[in-house]
Amino acid sequence: AIDISKLRAESGLITLDKGFKNTGSTTSDITFLDGEKGILKHRGYSIEDLAENSSYLEVAYLLIYGELPTQEEFSNFKAGIKENQLVHEEIKTILSGFPSKAHPMGVLSSLATSLTAFYPESLDPNRSKNKVNLTILRLLAKIPTFVSWSYTKRMGLPHNYPDNSLDYVPNFLKMMFSVPTEQYEIDPVVVDALQKLLILHADHEQNCSTSTVRIVGSSQASLYASIASGVSALWGPLHGGANQAVIQMLESIKADGGDVNKYVQKAKDKDDPFRLMGFGHRVYKNFDPRARIIKKNADEILSRLGIEDPVLEIAKKLEEVALKDDYFVERKLFPNVDFYSGIIFRAIGIPTEMFTVMFSIGRLPGWIAQWKEMREHKEPIGRPRQIYTGNPERPYIPIEER
Ligand code: ACO
Repeated sequence: AIDISKLRAESGLITLDKGFKNTGSTTSDITFLDGEKGILKHRGYSIEDLAENSSYLEVAYLLIYGELPTQEEFSNFKAGIKENQLVHEEIKTILSGFPSKAHPMGVLSSLATSLTAFYPESLDPNRSKNKVNLTILRLLAKIPTFVSWSYTKRMGLPHNYPDNSLDYVPNFLKMMFSVPTEQYEIDPVVVDALQKLLILHADHEQNCSTSTVRIVGSSQASLYASIASGVSALWGPLHGGANQAVIQMLESIKADGGDVNKYVQKAKDKDDPFRLMGFGHRVYKNFDPRARIIKKNADEILSRLGIEDPVLEIAKKLEEVALKDDYFVERKLFPNVDFYSGIIFRAIGIPTEMFTVMFSIGRLPGWIAQWKEMREHKEPIGRPRQIYTGNPERPYIPIEER
């Protein structure tokens, strides 16, 4: 057999693929994606089926452990999460050090890293399977608490403790929105909408943040640190940050008189850095199946909640005009998952600057599953090569002679 690594080392050949557009970094049993046909499946189950019939925690279990849970497995999983929802009181000290307008993604990334200090045993790459499972439960349990506390801090409201009598999504909503002076009513329509959004975000194979989690974890850094890095990678406007950027873009189109044609033209101008946020995808080249589900949900949820959002109308007009425009057709640019998700987040009361951090809660099971698979497959440290294009060797010149 040919030893490719040896051959490369001897010949000096390196594969150069900027942005890894056509480079597979791993083999994986978790998520199947066909970008041409718009198919997304987790462990063999279609995203349409899961979004319609499953729950976020069940999908989390499926992604992480490979199978849908039995009743018993699921109750143990949920009980393990509930047991760990409370966070150390000293987390409040860390949180209080942030300016109140700190972006929640920066706060979340820092708080996720801080878990390495509260649970230093997570630094041991050879810890037992049970200890790894505890780390997984802690992450699923505590991240929503961190996210809701970053919101209450921002709003100048008291932090709410988790309520173990509630399921995962209602508990999160209560931690976010309950205030001591009022009885908090959980709206099943809102729970259902959020549940679906989280499922749609749960995993998406080797995207930027997931590859980051895998590569950080490949150095055997702690799972908490790997997840914190994933949060940072997700933050950018070309990745998860697009959901915030979409609403900001739609609002500025609205404020500018609602002329979508003007913005479609602007997005085509190569001298203008403006892009239609929420359009285009590295892998989907016909449609994003998540966007189809979300678009339908956005209509349903807004009407069930009795909300009329002029931004939804602008989004629909923009999509209609762009999809008929040769520039977008030729480049196969379609609305992605972020195009309509912000409209639903808005409708359920999530402020714009929290959209990306909501995406993080959704993507968390995928990051964990991918990290776990990478470790179980005993993958080597991720270490891409480069082609050096700098100066040839030259002699050092003393500073006074430069
Ligand atoms: N608006 C206008 N033109 C676009 C857009 C857009 N949203 N997206 C891509 N293009 C153009 C590019 O300018 C390029 O044109 P060219 O061939 O004339 O140079 C061509 O389409 C290909 O685009 P690339 O940037 O090379 O495609 P890539 O696969 O690297 O990027 C990405 C994909 C980052 C998603 C891109 O489409 C984009 O920036 N979209 C807007 C941001 C966004 O919505 N991100 C969320 C992605 S989904 C997610 O992460 C959950």
